Amino acid sequence: MPHLAGVAAGSFADAAFAAPTQAVWTSDKHHWLTFPDTIVQHERNPPPRSLPDTVAAPAAMRSGSRASSKNVRVRLYEPGDFASVDTLWQQCFPDDPSWNRADRAIPAKMHFQPDLFFVAESDAAVIGTAMAGYDGHRGWLYSLAVSPSYRRSGIGTALLEEAESALQGLGCSKINLQIRQGNEQVAAFYQRHGYTAEARTSMAKRLGTS
Ligand SMILES: CC(C)(COP(=O)(O)OP(=O)(O)OC[C@H]1O[C@@H](n2cnc3c(N)ncnc32)[C@H](O)[C@@H]1OP(=O)(O)O)[C@@H](O)C(=O)NCCC(=O)NCCS
Repeated sequence: MPHLAGVAAGSFADAAFAAPTQAVWTSDKHHWLTFPDTIVQHERNPPPRSLPDTVAAPAAMRSGSRASSKNVRVRLYEPGDFASVDTLWQQCFPDDPSWNRADRAIPAKMHFQPDLFFVAESDAAVIGTAMAGYDGHRGWLYSLAVSPSYRRSGIGTALLEEAESALQGLGCSKINLQIRQGNEQVAAFYQRHGYTAEARTSMAKRLGTS
């Protein structure tokens, strides 16, 4: 149990979380605990780099990687992927609220920045996803998921790099993401890729009744 070192308040937007929270910075300076819904926010400022005319193969899947040996490729989501993605998300995000489910999130995404929704495919099966969004100010990353039997072989990295590259190509200079309470172990994955925990409190408001 971490030592609690202080209390502060701030805000950032995420439609997935409805409750106002208080945040407590832990003394190890590694993360914030927020109440009642504990969410650790991570951010990354992508290093400046020139953009290629065409998107290169993600670094994690270049020849020699474990992912490439499984014949995996990252591409844009296509309508025929829906059932596979739905199954994957139910498996990877069993506690997500209804508004994050595939039948609501994917049709909405298809109407807004559909070119920021990626899947990883192996032998014609979808085994991973990454969804991103850019509002002209910040980029956000959502729904990064890899099928359990394919994990720790570079696929999550490949999806993340593809999303980062697409966001950077749109002029995005900072990416935010949230990790749900109880899923903090995934922070190791993001830290490996340059993300750091930020001192923020997650607040949100749902608009309308749906
Ligand atoms: C997070 C997730 C997408 C990572 O996918 P992945 O394909 O296993 O990731 P990679 O193989 O590219 O991992 C790269 C590195 O990240 C780190 N890493 C990945 N998963 C980790 C874990 N569970 N614990 C600690 N470190 C981890 C390791 O350093 C790993 O390198 P290594 O395998 O050589 O040690 C996957 O674990 C997942 O789908 N989790 C469930 C859904 C989820 O929680 N998504 C995040 C929502 S915020």
